[in-house]
Amino acid sequence: MDVYDTIGATYATTRRPDPRIGARVAAALGDASSVVNVGAGAGSYEPPQTVLAVEPSAVMIRQRPARAAPVVQARAEALPLATGAADAVMALLTVHHWADLAAGVAELRRVARRRVVVLTWDAPVFRSFWLVREYLPQAVAFDETRAVPVERLAALLGGARVEPVPVPHDCVDGFAAAYWRRPAAYLDPAVRAGISMLAQTGEDALRPGLHRLAEDLRAGRWQEEHPDLLDREEFDAGYRLVVADL
Ligand SMILES: C[S@@+](CC[C@H](N)C(=O)[O-])C[C@H]1O[C@@H](n2cnc3c(N)ncnc32)[C@H](O)[C@@H]1O
Repeated sequence: MDVYDTIGATYATTRRPDPRIGARVAAALGDASSVVNVGAGAGSYEPPQTVLAVEPSAVMIRQRPARAAPVVQARAEALPLATGAADAVMALLTVHHWADLAAGVAELRRVARRRVVVLTWDAPVFRSFWLVREYLPQAVAFDETRAVPVERLAALLGGARVEPVPVPHDCVDGFAAAYWRRPAAYLDPAVRAGISMLAQTGEDALRPGLHRLAEDLRAGRWQEEHPDLLDREEFDAGYRLVVADL
C-alpha cells in the first residue's frame, strides 16, 4: 500500500494550491506547451497544458477534481511514457517520498524534452523554522531521514538553477511551514494530517511539543519570542524550485 493511501485521505481539505506559489511554478514552466505532472497528488498547481498526471496512490487520485488532467497510477521510478513525451515535466513536493531518487530523476529527464521543474525544500534552512527547532525536533529528525539535498537533486538533473520560494503569511496550501505566522493552526489535527512530516512522525511523539506550544500561545510567550514574525508578509522556510533546462 502506498504511504499516501494511509495519510492522504483528507489531503484536499488543507492542501489547496496557493495562487502565489502557482504563479512561481507557472513561470518556471515557461512556454512549455505540454506538461507531465509526476507525484501529482490531487492535482495542485497543474497548469492547463498538463497532458498527463502520474500518481501512485489511489486515495490521492480519488481527490482529483473532475476537470483535472488524465491520470495514470504509476511511480516516478518507472514512468509509463515515451522518451520526450512532453515539453516539461514537473514534480512538486514529492521527490522526498520516492524509493529511488536517482531512478526517478532519470525518468523525469527521459520524458521531458526541454525542462524539468521540481519543488522541494532545503533541509538546513528548514531546520531553523521555529516549529521544528523549538517544539517538534522529533519531526525534523524524521524529516531529515528523507530530505533530498538540493545540490544532489541539481546534480542528478545535470545542473539546475535554484530559486527560493518564500511562503506567504496566509498561504492556502497547508504544507509544513505554511502556518509560520499562524502558530495555533498546528494544534489542529486536520492541519497536521495534511503535513506528511507530522503525520508520519506520529501523534505520540508530537504530543509534548504541541502541548508546550499550546501553553506558550495561551501565556503569550510565543508572541513575545517571535515579534519579528508578526509583521512579516513572507518567510523563507527553505522551499526551493529547482529548474533544469535539458
Ligand atoms: C505532498 S504530496 C504532493 C502532491 C502534489 N504534487 C502537490 O503539490 O500537492 C506527495 C505525492 O507524491 C506521491 N508519491 C509518493 N511516492 C511516489 C513515487 N515513487 N512516484 C511518484 N509519486 C509518488 C504521493 O502519493 C503524494 O501524492
